[in-house]
Amino acid sequence: MCGIVGYSGPRQAVPLLLEGLKRLEYRGYDSAGVAVLDKGRIERRRASGKLANLEALLQESPIRGTTALGHTRWATHGKPSEENAHPHADCGKSLVVIHNGIIENYLEIKEKLAAAGHVFESETDTETAAHLIEEKLKTLRGPNGALPPHLTEPLLFEAVRQALAEVRGAYALAVLWDKAPGVLIAAKTSSPLIIGLGKGENFLGSDVPAFLEHTREAVFLEDGEMAVLKSGGCTYFNLAGKRVSKSPVHIPWDRRTAEKGGFRHFMMKEIHEQPEACEDTLRGRLLPLHDGVLERECGMKAQVLKDLRRIHVVACGTALNAGLIAKYWIEDLAGVSVLAEPASEFRYRGAVVEPGDLVLAISQSGETADTLAAAKLAREKGAKILSVCNSVGSALTRASDFNLYTHCGPEFGVASTKAFLGQLSALAAFAVHCAAARGTIDAFRGRELIDELVKLPALVRRALKTDARALEIAKRYYKKEHFLFIGRGLNYPVAMEAALKLKEISYIHAEGYAAGELKHGPIALLDRDMPVVAVATRAKTAEKMLSNIEEARARGAQIIAVATEGDAAPRAAETLLVPAAPEFLAPAVNIVPLQLLAYHIADLRGCDVDQPRNLAKSVTVE
Ligand code: AGP
Repeated sequence: MCGIVGYSGPRQAVPLLLEGLKRLEYRGYDSAGVAVLDKGRIERRRASGKLANLEALLQESPIRGTTALGHTRWATHGKPSEENAHPHADCGKSLVVIHNGIIENYLEIKEKLAAAGHVFESETDTETAAHLIEEKLKTLRGPNGALPPHLTEPLLFEAVRQALAEVRGAYALAVLWDKAPGVLIAAKTSSPLIIGLGKGENFLGSDVPAFLEHTREAVFLEDGEMAVLKSGGCTYFNLAGKRVSKSPVHIPWDRRTAEKGGFRHFMMKEIHEQPEACEDTLRGRLLPLHDGVLERECGMKAQVLKDLRRIHVVACGTALNAGLIAKYWIEDLAGVSVLAEPASEFRYRGAVVEPGDLVLAISQSGETADTLAAAKLAREKGAKILSVCNSVGSALTRASDFNLYTHCGPEFGVASTKAFLGQLSALAAFAVHCAAARGTIDAFRGRELIDELVKLPALVRRALKTDARALEIAKRYYKKEHFLFIGRGLNYPVAMEAALKLKEISYIHAEGYAAGELKHGPIALLDRDMPVVAVATRAKTAEKMLSNIEEARARGAQIIAVATEGDAAPRAAETLLVPAAPEFLAPAVNIVPLQLLAYHIADLRGCDVDQPRNLAKSVTVE
């Protein structure tokens, strides 16, 4: 996620901006920039890469001024580069914007503005906002453009407000205009934006660490709120322009805790960011079903999808578990045969790949050596590559024919959580759109699936409420040395992913198994010391899962069941209840209590939850 810093006060702004952006580095970024207003002029400095590059630029060519904006960019639209770095300016270079989020309808706005003569310099959605506000200012100023100084602030506010009325999507946005000295206009919908209230100075940040060195008094903007920030104080409005009152809160955290959003570990913060990861990844990609995300955003012609005979999923670890779930979805909905296997196997076993095949290469980092090599090998055999990746401009995305990005923001916990849900969100959208393009689902079923996907973030948010129960169970079982996870259908890859979460952060031996396979071997393992986690939520195979649970109980195993609220509870020692969800979405909901269980067991065992032993976040070597 991008980093946002703003300042209005008596001090030179650049050092404060750089310090604030450094405090936000943990959010990950690929370029950075600042804009400062001084004596009626806005100066910008932008650089791709790390903040050190921007600092060097500012050393060479310093800028002074006390009203300013700073930004670190996590690319979503347009490659990481200086011209795509924020702040972005209007034609007249008299107004700049920084932004975190996604403006879904930026292309249609950009086309209209270009037709009206606006010249664009970048590929970003953010620059469109700058030109849109410029256009609104022109209209509001009228033909003679009279501009009494006392009107510049309300004029700028109204221009931003009117521009936002035309924007669809997610934004945390801040605007600086050379005609309104000392004034920053801020607005928030979906992406976080916080105001730091100082003494005779005020700050803006996408997260509290941006200004925690200077003030612990913060005002958190809510969706649909705007702020006019000046050194002497801030006023708050809704998007209708109506004044709203906001109360500051005192931030007690130290800096490290603030970076984790108040959680003790990045992993727990990221587990709780999963509803937003789903929301941000699905945003603007569900409708229209025809000529939709795959055609418009990925550039996949409907004919390519219609002609598809086989899909190969290549991935590793958690990404492979997401791919296994996608296999079930795509075969069921789109009627295409899907092979899913570890990339490290695919690349050496002489896999049969034919021209016209599609490879689904799934990777959070986009730098995993085995996945990259497998994709390249498949390409040499004539397949097309679609990457599902969380890192714009990564090696895998550059090697692919099509890219369907997840929008989870950077994931710092080595154990993948929100990236997994982002992958499921992107893959579910792919499965539905692929089926619609192939005509294997009709408009009614397509609309039904879309309506279900729209509800996913809320279902995941409700599943997070199992945290206290997961901790209770963890306290009883954290000393166990072996766990077996079982599931059927879509819950089988869920069992695999849950076992992976537990083993990689708690170092407990854990296996994920198809429940139907229990009697073909694993049942020999069962006794009182082998807890069995049964993912037994509402599904076509629910009855069969209950029999598998009985089989395990009969051998003395203690059952920890994941079950659907309101359904008859399985006979288990422990139960984690999740909200009723369409079977199609069950994997994304059911994994949440199991992530929480793994987290608490590992934490109780004193393990380093964020950086488990022997593991790396991205395995860039074989
Ligand atoms: C997930 O919890 C693991 N840390 C690991 O299996 C990871 O999913 C795997 O290395 C693939 O990484 P990628 O998604 O960046 O390709």
